[in-house]
Amino acid sequence: MNIKTIEEKLDDAILSSKKYIGIGEVASYIPELANVDADNFGVALVKTNGEMVLKGDKDIKFSIQSISKVIDLIIALEDRGKEKVFSKVGMEPTEYKFNSIRPISDRAANPLINAGAITTCSLIKGADVDEKFSRVMEKVKNLSNSKDIVFLEEVYNSEMKTTDINRSIAYYLKSIGIIENNADDVLDLYVRNCSIGVDIKQLAWIAAVLANGGKSLDGKEQLIDKEVVKITLALMAACGMYEESGKYLIEVGFPSKSGVGGAIIAIIPGKCGVCTYSPRLDKSGNSIRGKELLKEISQTLDLNIFI
Ligand code: DON
Repeated sequence: MNIKTIEEKLDDAILSSKKYIGIGEVASYIPELANVDADNFGVALVKTNGEMVLKGDKDIKFSIQSISKVIDLIIALEDRGKEKVFSKVGMEPTEYKFNSIRPISDRAANPLINAGAITTCSLIKGADVDEKFSRVMEKVKNLSNSKDIVFLEEVYNSEMKTTDINRSIAYYLKSIGIIENNADDVLDLYVRNCSIGVDIKQLAWIAAVLANGGKSLDGKEQLIDKEVVKITLALMAACGMYEESGKYLIEVGFPSKSGVGGAIIAIIPGKCGVCTYSPRLDKSGNSIRGKELLKEISQTLDLNIFI
């Protein structure tokens, strides 16, 4: 894939995605998220050799939100191994919304919904919440090849004040023995992780490392174990876009993960990582313009992994 061609096709896709400007709503159930410009827009594509194209709002920092669930899962798998992790959380998609309490029977359906990520957060090692969170920050810095990763305190405070649903999920998981440590601490770590501030290039770089089988883009270091990458990408393909995951996979054709901050990351194994940022969401909590742009470049850049 020649970088010039990529840039041309991306420009075309950005242009045609303009018809979605103004469609959808920004998330407001976390009040601070409603304070962004709804029409912010950016896209970054990073090839597995480190070449990249950045378009639009490349300097805006937004909260990572549910894309942190990918990081939570990676760290939980590295810290505890897959047997332990999947004794606590399932591997199957669910038809319910991302913050529903319903997909929990004996455990959460999968690690990429709230209940599942609260579970994986409970498995992250560290003496206390501060140490665990600093390990998460280090991981994000390491995988994004950037030191400039921030903590968005206003977003954190806003979610902590309003997140009764996640609090009830954490307490419920504790009551059925899935969470073994303090439920408030687990919730705190989960919300802190969602409040990490990133930009499009940093997320696209993380996506590119995943596309590179977990290797750094200079090829020198295995940053994530291959088995962990394999599990993570499979779950992103099956569950990364919530109750829309099947339809999205048919239309777009590569593993992705969305966040209510407005970003989507997409992994095209062996080729590139992509991050779109556009805060207006559909009813599943996925960015509308981002999704449409990814659908278009899947075709024009021939990125669908199935054909
Ligand atoms: O827990 C929440 O509801 C948010 N912090 C994250 C949800 C989210 O990003 C859903 N994704 N599209």
